[in-house]
Amino acid sequence: MVIEPRIRGFLCTTAHPIGCTASVEEQIQHVKSHGAIANGPRKALVIGCSTGYGLASRIAAAFGCGAGTLGVAYERPAEKGRTASPGWYQTRAFEEAAAKEGLYHKSIMGDAFSKEIKDEVIATLKSELGAVDLFVYSLAAPRRVHPVTGVAHRSVLKPIKAPYTNKTLDFNSGVVSEITLELATPQEVEDTIQVMGGEDWEMWVDLLKSEDLLAPGAITVAYSYIGPDVTQPVYRNGTIGAAKDHLEKTAHTLQGKLKDINGQAFVSVNKALVTQASSAIPFMPLYISVLYKVMKEKGIHEGCIEQIDRLFRDRLYVGGKIPTDEQGRIRLDDLEMREDVQNEVKRLWVGIATENMVGQSDLEGYRSDFLRLFGFGIAGVDYAADVPEELI
Ligand code: NAI
Repeated sequence: MVIEPRIRGFLCTTAHPIGCTASVEEQIQHVKSHGAIANGPRKALVIGCSTGYGLASRIAAAFGCGAGTLGVAYERPAEKGRTASPGWYQTRAFEEAAAKEGLYHKSIMGDAFSKEIKDEVIATLKSELGAVDLFVYSLAAPRRVHPVTGVAHRSVLKPIKAPYTNKTLDFNSGVVSEITLELATPQEVEDTIQVMGGEDWEMWVDLLKSEDLLAPGAITVAYSYIGPDVTQPVYRNGTIGAAKDHLEKTAHTLQGKLKDINGQAFVSVNKALVTQASSAIPFMPLYISVLYKVMKEKGIHEGCIEQIDRLFRDRLYVGGKIPTDEQGRIRLDDLEMREDVQNEVKRLWVGIATENMVGQSDLEGYRSDFLRLFGFGIAGVDYAADVPEELI
């Protein structure tokens, strides 16, 4: 069967298995081309391991450090007439590559918020991998059923202080229009904190530690975002920002809890990038399109793998004290937030409209990265060819 992208809003309902494999290979090659990472982890657990920052983290741990990895993700296999989700293919590709190098690898597909999946991870670590020295928490989820109360919480992307109006981009059509996001209710703020805040991360760390599955000196890291003025009302000062504040507070709590094993907990503030999670956030596709143009012109653009490669080499395993800002956060958004970059983004944002999207932004770069998430548009892949049934 020939597989083509079928785009619905900010989703693509098909994924190309060969393209997804090629994209994982590219990321592996990127890490390998920089050489082995000294002092890296030997055993890593990655929650949210199948796409975006989590997949890049798993690749850096395995192919940069030679670590055995256990991954957890929420992905779907192929069904009759429907391809699997891209994270499914990417996980398969990761596993095949890890197997070739003799690296331990196992992936558990299911809801990381649930007690069942936590129990399965604990059992697998106990019987197979042993205590981990790196625990990456890279979940981006729309919903969480609380394992204790059974309440289903749904995250929303809304402002907290006042309704917010600004320009937004439909990246399929290239049309820029204005939208207003209504104020979140206090319940919506709470629900978003429940889903994307730090409680689940802390539950994982408590459990791993109580089962002696965090090795002495273990590091745990979760990912956060800050971003520019134009996205502040809906991102950092919005519901998702409240959740990120909670995640960042949790890092401090975990830092205390890990002291006795000489462990450390960090939030790493990463760069805005096209992922399945970020394409659903209002204003982000427009901001990212403009940001890409500016950062590419300045020669400082990075994707997930470049960011995470830098996280491992220049931050987590730099050898010595891990560099952070005054609030203890690792900053990988240093280039995105540079004054000259943000001034240029602001200048372009003021005049941006449907008519000048092509010249004033990197709309094509956005679209191409979006398609790549689903395995399309990768160099060297013959998209006109039939994909063998056994690969789907
Ligand atoms: P993504 O959508 O590419 O990846 C999300 C991962 O979570 C996937 O592996 C998915 O299978 C997994 N997942 C979702 N629900 C799950 C569940 N219930 N149980 C188990 N696994 C589940 O997202 P992305 O962008 O890589 O985000 C990861 C983290 O990085 C998030 O905390 C996000 O806020 C943060 N971040 C993202 C930025 C961006 O621009 N994309 C910027 C800075 C931080």
